Amino acid sequence: MRRRSRTLRLASFSPESVAAVARARRALGDRRATPNLGWLSELTGAHRRAIGTVLEELEDLLPLEEEIRHRHLAAGRTSYAQIRAPFELYAMTRLLKPRNVVEAGVSSGVSSAHFLAALARNRVGRLHSIDLPTPQRAAALGRSESTVAIPPGLATGWAVPERLRGSWDLRIGPSQRLLPGLAAELDSVDLFLHDDLHTPTHLTFELETIRPRLREGSIVLADNTSWTGEAFPRFARSLGANVARRGRGDLVGMRVPRLPGT
Ligand SMILES: C[S@@+](CC[C@H](N)C(=O)[O-])C[C@H]1O[C@@H](n2cnc3c(N)ncnc32)[C@H](O)[C@@H]1O
Repeated sequence: MRRRSRTLRLASFSPESVAAVARARRALGDRRATPNLGWLSELTGAHRRAIGTVLEELEDLLPLEEEIRHRHLAAGRTSYAQIRAPFELYAMTRLLKPRNVVEAGVSSGVSSAHFLAALARNRVGRLHSIDLPTPQRAAALGRSESTVAIPPGLATGWAVPERLRGSWDLRIGPSQRLLPGLAAELDSVDLFLHDDLHTPTHLTFELETIRPRLREGSIVLADNTSWTGEAFPRFARSLGANVARRGRGDLVGMRVPRLPGT
């Protein structure tokens, strides 16, 4: 079942929470990054008060957001095809306290930086990321190139500050080759983000690869699902999970229910 997340308005939270969100969004420089709190609540099942507390923490992310924005500007990126939900990724990681976060698709590392900032605050858990970088062809980004291309002289995760990298297991190569080995190493995948190659076959491959590592309460996210057809909803149905869609966009998620035999 695919449904829009229930309404939970930012304006109904404390003035401190509302101000922290506004400042963090401005510091990152991405107006699209206003958190969708209904989506967050549906995926985490967290109490409103816990969500409010995490929103207030965004105030502490201002130096990180500014650093990411400045790194992007210095590399000639005035706009960037990053995930639209960096603050929800932070909040989910804080609320869920995952042992293992796995993401496929890093580019400059906006999603990675938000996972890592939350893991650092949790003082537990690791981020395992896989990325097959798309190199930028020349000093300036070509008209036909995607903004996710890596500028010359930089590497995957180039916007992630050094101080956050302690809990980061970053693997470079195609997820088709690397994800099976990574999944086999982990006891659980508690939070997963698909944000790499957006084809139905590839998304299905990634979801089926992590399936044996999912547990009750794991959160599985996929971006750009308008390109991947039935792959995500079919997988959710097979687990008995609901698909939670972020607003009108095509970033979706599911919370894994109790699995048979557990
Ligand atoms: C949309 S970007 C990731 C954005 C990132 N999640 C963020 O929020 O900033 C997609 C990344 O996936 C990489 N990619 C594409 N195909 C891949 C594959 N088969 N395996 C791993 N990474 C891949 C691209 O080169 C690019 O770096």
